[in-house]
Amino acid sequence: MSERSVPSTIAADRPTDRPTVGPTAPSVDLPTPRPRLRPARPTDHLAIRALFRTTILAGDPLPGSVLGARDCLARYERLCLDAYLSDGLVIVVEDDDAIVGYLLGCLDEQAHRRHQTRQALGWVVHAGLGVATGRIRGDARRFVRLRIHDGWVAWRRGPRPPFPAHAHINLARSARARRVGFDLVAAMDAAVAAAGLPGWYGEVTVPAGRSLAAAARAGASVVHRQPNRTFT
Ligand SMILES: CC(C)(COP(=O)(O)OP(=O)(O)OC[C@H]1O[C@@H](n2cnc3c(N)ncnc32)[C@H](O)[C@@H]1OP(=O)(O)O)[C@@H](O)C(=O)NCCC(=O)NCCS
Repeated sequence: MSERSVPSTIAADRPTDRPTVGPTAPSVDLPTPRPRLRPARPTDHLAIRALFRTTILAGDPLPGSVLGARDCLARYERLCLDAYLSDGLVIVVEDDDAIVGYLLGCLDEQAHRRHQTRQALGWVVHAGLGVATGRIRGDARRFVRLRIHDGWVAWRRGPRPPFPAHAHINLARSARARRVGFDLVAAMDAAVAAAGLPGWYGEVTVPAGRSLAAAARAGASVVHRQPNRTFT
């Protein structure tokens, strides 16, 4: 099929928005469509929860069996998600009709802290008992112990919230390294500005040997560093 055999409704002397097809047609590299950001709808919550579970351990799923820890992990999921899903700013990243990322934002730090401190203490007691009694075993046990340790260190040594707003950003592996994180950062910047707030903060796990230059270029400053093995 030659270029001239394209349907007459697409004039051959005008650029077309379709590649020609056939054995002699030149191959055309179409740009991959960019994932799209939009406010979350209640019908997205299941997909957000599923993505949370597959990225729970610093961007990866928990390895191994979670038998004996299902209840503890379900509580952990509620602790990490529910306050945002019911009362926060939630933006999803959609790619090919699938949810491949989200931003969970909080624009009322004090109310969030009051609510979360109680919930977090409840989870620590429940999870700690599960570990102490041997009910939670294997990789889940290791995760729970490390998560309690990381949380304890952050609580003891971390600074007070530097701004009255914060966000968690999380992308599926398929959506990473495509600069979508910056799009979500820009969306949070806009929401914070619209709310009249001076700024927001977040946490990022920086792999060994990697710098935070990109975050600095996006306007962020480092206020605290802490070794950790469980944050995302
Ligand atoms: C971390 C994350 C938000 C980055 O978003 P992304 O769209 O995948 O970012 P990209 O890989 O396109 O990188 C954009 C820039 O940020 C840098 N970057 C990305 N992840 C980084 C990290 N973890 N630490 C330091 N720099 C990072 C890249 O090197 C790149 O820099 P450049 O502008 O100099 O090229 C995303 O990979 C993710 O969600 N990972 C899993 C969950 C997680 O770790 N969340 C942490 C945020 S709360």
